[in-house]
Formats: sequence, structure tokens, C-alpha cells
Amino acid sequence: MTISLPTNSKMLTKEFTFGVATASFQIEGATSADGRLPCIWDTFCATPGKVLNGDDGSKACNHYNLWQEDVQLIKSMGVDAYRLSIAWPRLMDEKGQANEKGIEFYRNLLKSLKAEGLKTFVTLYHWDLPQYLEDRGGWVNRETAYRFVEYAELATKELGEWVDSWATFNEPFCAAILGYEYGIHAPGLTSPKYGRQAAHHILLAHGLALPVIRRNSPNSQVGIVLNMNRTYPASAKSEDQFAALVRETLDNQFFIEPLLKAQYPKLLKKVLPDHLPTVLPGDMDIISRPIDFLGMNFYTCNHNEFDENTLFKDVKSKQQVEYTDIGWEIAPHAFSELLINLNEQYSLPPMFITENGAACADVMIDGEVNDEQRVRYLNGHINAVNDAIEAGVDIRGYFAWSLMDNFEWAEGYSKRFGLCYVDYETQKRTIKRSGKAYKALLESRS
Ligand code: NOJ
Repeated sequence: MTISLPTNSKMLTKEFTFGVATASFQIEGATSADGRLPCIWDTFCATPGKVLNGDDGSKACNHYNLWQEDVQLIKSMGVDAYRLSIAWPRLMDEKGQANEKGIEFYRNLLKSLKAEGLKTFVTLYHWDLPQYLEDRGGWVNRETAYRFVEYAELATKELGEWVDSWATFNEPFCAAILGYEYGIHAPGLTSPKYGRQAAHHILLAHGLALPVIRRNSPNSQVGIVLNMNRTYPASAKSEDQFAALVRETLDNQFFIEPLLKAQYPKLLKKVLPDHLPTVLPGDMDIISRPIDFLGMNFYTCNHNEFDENTLFKDVKSKQQVEYTDIGWEIAPHAFSELLINLNEQYSLPPMFITENGAACADVMIDGEVNDEQRVRYLNGHINAVNDAIEAGVDIRGYFAWSLMDNFEWAEGYSKRFGLCYVDYETQKRTIKRSGKAYKALLESRS
């Protein structure tokens, strides 16, 4: 099995960017080195029962110390670009003062990536909120949006020179809804009132930061990264269709509509008014400020049926389908469909697929990892992106999640998403078969 595209695919031209992605908390480790302050994920990991096996981010992939080796690893994979995130608690202290050591780490890393000819895609917020801000209400507190702008000011002023593309936030849905509404991510709160207000403040922070980033880093592109699933009704019954519509509205439209249409979905006013945040005059104009690109993370699809209490409920597909090790259905057709639907419903800015990948139960045998399912997954989804491009969606790049196995949030280290295998004892990285297949695809470009 290989990863291949039609020879005339636009994805094989030099205008299209291929990369691999990671995030600070998931790979860096060294959570108390050089003035790095505690974040909400340190606290969450230390709370019994929140993260599988009591895993935490203190060591992770020790990327904070092994970054030079990792830059060589990225380079050796033949990619054009690397997507990373900056840890806010490394960059500044509680009083907003710069932490020179933290800045130096990212400056060295970015400079070295550029020296290797790699494009740098940097996310400002991939979920590691400083704990002192959570102690003041976190994202439920509107003040946090203004603190984010100060952080964005510092990061882009100090590092903008080496950054091709800035994303303000990674997956506001996960940060706000998994964190403040479902309680399965840090900080672990459980109310739609908190979740939806947190989401609004994250979107507000995004909009407030845009002009600051543009001023400090005029040669970079600026955008935001959303995650989306396609949700199918479990049957043709109208109530199941309604259930799927509500689910997509809460997960997808709730985030893309304010950004691109300056409004929250009208359906919510009718069916779930308690899922609408408090919005102050002027907020929607700030949130909908123009962006250079929209990043999209895609992994799977859902099937929903109607539920009297919650309106929708997850069920398994009635078809014969395949799942990854994390229990997510493999559905590349849902990916192209989602992209094409969005393109019909919105006037989309240029798109980047900022994450896509599979968790597999990888084992190393004789120094090799034969992750055949991941190769098939990547092949299917890369071709789904190609189908969407063929259908007219303006997609400029694709990033595989992830460069290497890492801390998978509430699942700890039990789930492996890497194109490189990490032996957490020795910290040795080994390129898996999927990593080699990805490289072969990139090398096939003329
Ligand atoms: C999306 C998140 O951005 C990333 O941090 C996570 O590891 C992957 N999805 C896989 O769940």
C-alpha cells in the first residue's frame, strides 16, 4: 500500500504545501524548566481520574531538549512545512513580563526550521492556558481575551520574523466545549453556559488579536484553525435528521458562522437558547474581521439519532465500517463532502487542512512499525482533499497529525497518532511505514 494521487493533481504542484503538525503541551515536556509556569493541563493531569493512567505532560517527547534532533527528523521526512504551537506559560509571567528563556527556545527552533528551508505554521493557543488565568475564571472571564492579546503582541513581536503563518487558536470547539461544557478536557467544567461563553471569548480574543499580529508580523498570513466532523442522521426519520442538524450546528456552525457571517446560528435561538453566549455590542464585528486563511482539522464522522432529553445522541454506523484505535470511524468521503458543503454555504477564505490522521495500535517489531491502517487512512483522506479541490474548494496545504506519537490529552500516551514512533523510555524516534509512504508521495512531485 502506498499513498498516491492522480498525476495531474494540483496537490502535486509547488503551490501546494505538505507538512506535519504537533502542539506544545503534547510534545515539549520540561513543564517547569526555565520559568515555564503551570497551565490548566498540568492541573488537570494532576487531578485523579481525569487523564488515562494518570499520565501528564512533564516529560512527553522531551522536545524542549531534543528540538535540534527533531528539526532534523522533520527535514528528513521530506515535508515543506512544520506546524507547531507556542506555550503561553513559557512566554510571559503573571504580570505580563516577557520570559527571555522561553522566547529564546522558540526563536532558536523557528530560526533553525527556516535555515532548513521549512515553512513555519505557528499556533498561538493550543490549549495550554496559564493556570493563573484559569484561577480568575479562564475563558469564561472576558478579561482573558484581553490577556491573550498581550500574549499575541509579545509572541508576534519577538518571533514574527521567522513565522510564515500564524493561527490564533487551535480548535476553539475543543478548548471551550470539551473543556468548559463536557468537562472531558481541562479545566473540566460542565455547563453549556460556561462552554458557549468560553467559546465566545475565544473568538473575541481571535478577532482582537488580528490587527496586533498583522502590525507586528506584516509578512505572515493570519488565520484560525477549526475542527469539524460531518454528522449523519442515523435514519431517514425526520427527528433523526433534526438531531444531526442540531449536532452540526453546535459543533461546526457555532464556530464558523460568527467568523464568516458575524452571527451565531439562528437555529439555536429556537431550539437551544441556553447555548447562546452573552454578546456585547461590537463583538461580532471584531470576531468577523477578515482572515487570510481558515485551517481545518478533520478526523471522523458522527451518526446521531434524536434523544428526548439531549436532542441528539451518538450511535454507531449501521454500515460495515472501519474504526481506528481511538474508536473513530474512518470516513474519507465525509471529509470531501464537508469541505464541498462548506464551500457552498460560505464564502471561504483559502483553506489549509491543518490536521488529519489516525490513532493506531502501533507496535515496533525488529525496529520497524508497519502501520498499514494509517497508510490507508492517509491515502483515503489525501485523495478526499484532492476531490474537494477538484470540486472547486480552494485548499492550499495539508498537514498530517502528527509528526510523532505524543500526549493525546485525556487518553494520555495510550493513543499513538505519529508518523514517527516514540519510545518514551529512550525517547528514540523511528519513522513508521506511514512516514515513509508520506515521504514517497512528496518525493514523487517533480
Ligand atoms: C486535534 C488536536 O488539535 C490535537 O491536539 C489532537 O491530538 C488531535 N486532534 C487528535 O485527537
